[in-house]
Amino acid sequence: MKTIAVFGVGYVGLTTGACLAEMGYRVVGCDVNETKINLLRQAQIPFSEPGLAPLVERNLSAGRLSFTADGREVLHDAEMVFICVGTPTGPSGAADLSQVEAAVRLVASAATRPLIVILKSTIPPGGTAEHFAEILARELPPQLTAPIVVNPEFLREGSAVHDFFFPDRVVVGAWDRAAGEQVAALYAPLRCPVLLTDPASAQLTKYASNAFLAAKISFINEVGRIAEQVGANVYAVAQGMGLDERIGGDFLEAGLGYGGSCFPKDVKALAAIAEEHGSSSALLGAVMDINAGQRRLAVEKLRDALGGLEGKNLCVLGLAFKADTDDVREAPALDVISMLCDQGASVRTYDPVAAARAQEVLPPHSRLLYCQDAYEAATGSDAAFIATDWKEFRDLDWNRLGSLMKGNTILDGRGLISPQQMRENGFRCLALAS
Ligand SMILES: NC(=O)c1ccc[n+]([C@@H]2O[C@H](COP(=O)([O-])OP(=O)(O)OC[C@H]3O[C@@H](n4cnc5c(N)ncnc54)[C@H](O)[C@@H]3O)[C@@H](O)[C@H]2O)c1
Repeated sequence: MKTIAVFGVGYVGLTTGACLAEMGYRVVGCDVNETKINLLRQAQIPFSEPGLAPLVERNLSAGRLSFTADGREVLHDAEMVFICVGTPTGPSGAADLSQVEAAVRLVASAATRPLIVILKSTIPPGGTAEHFAEILARELPPQLTAPIVVNPEFLREGSAVHDFFFPDRVVVGAWDRAAGEQVAALYAPLRCPVLLTDPASAQLTKYASNAFLAAKISFINEVGRIAEQVGANVYAVAQGMGLDERIGGDFLEAGLGYGGSCFPKDVKALAAIAEEHGSSSALLGAVMDINAGQRRLAVEKLRDALGGLEGKNLCVLGLAFKADTDDVREAPALDVISMLCDQGASVRTYDPVAAARAQEVLPPHSRLLYCQDAYEAATGSDAAFIATDWKEFRDLDWNRLGSLMKGNTILDGRGLISPQQMRENGFRCLALAS
């Protein structure tokens, strides 16, 4: 049985490790965060990801999955090391690769046998994989080799386990063809297309894919603004466009725009890559501007509808950047809440799972209250604002919610509920796009 080490057991690393263990490999997950490791040893998942807990529990008990905070220890046995640490936005907009560099340096200093280093973290092309290969070549003991293979991850939070087992494709970028083929072979049981290419192309495929999806979202939001001017309905337009197989309906939902740990940072990083290499990207700049504009537009619509925000009570439903996750990184809701509070409104908010994470990042505010459910959040509010596409919000008893509110204004930032039905229930519906 192959032994695989996974450095960084966050959303990507834990999913990868648990799914590889489920496929029969022996996996050791390693993280610098000891609290995370201690929780995982007791089969407790440190974040919310549907379907992951039973996988971790089953594979821990079967002895195929284990966790440690000691990276050196796992390198005694591992034949492959997946690096799944964070690559957040650095001060210039480019990806901060310090976590990856620390993990690569640890491998270089502690490896005791030949192994393959698999970069699953999202890492910009243009010399970075080469840099890590040089560190390994320079710092490994002379008798050892550790070829680098780039294997970007495409899973979506909220359906990460499903996406691991049913990927549209696996991309493997390697200079060392044999090492690339060994990594590709790991995924053979999944019976999906595997693209074997060079590292730079694998790296750029990841950035280009995320930037394209983000561009689709900003595109439909731009069309939404035009639709409002010309009296068209953007949801009908998106439906009409999406039925064209060349376009496809996914990521054409007009609304509050994208957030999360990937799209914002990867679009920014791709723009920085273009700049660093002497070109610039007008398209990526526009994608980011439009996206930021949607959050401001939401606040403006509420302000205009309520005749100002000073002293108003607002209910914000949803904190996570999308449904089925507790991830609030770059979540539009957090920006909107900050803007509302800054302009004098009081905000009562509720999210099914993400409140604790939001409280870690949103500065405490005397006019911001976290509630236990949507009805409590709506009580006494002048307007309600849907910021996350949780199914729970679609299924609310909107009559009851409306009766608890002081006003009757609702702004659906996610196109979740039917405006016609809401109007019949006595709501005054605002939209980010008509
Ligand atoms: N989250 C997603 O949906 C997603 C999807 C595709 C790709 N990615 C990419 O995958 C990478 C990881 O993302 P994530 O969301 O899982 O991040 P995360 O923040 O959830 O997890 C990263 C983990 O790495 C740990 N870590 C940091 N330095 C370490 C080190 N030197 N050794 C061991 N562990 C270390 C951190 O403590 C943390 O637990 C990023 O590059 C991201 O862009 C993320």
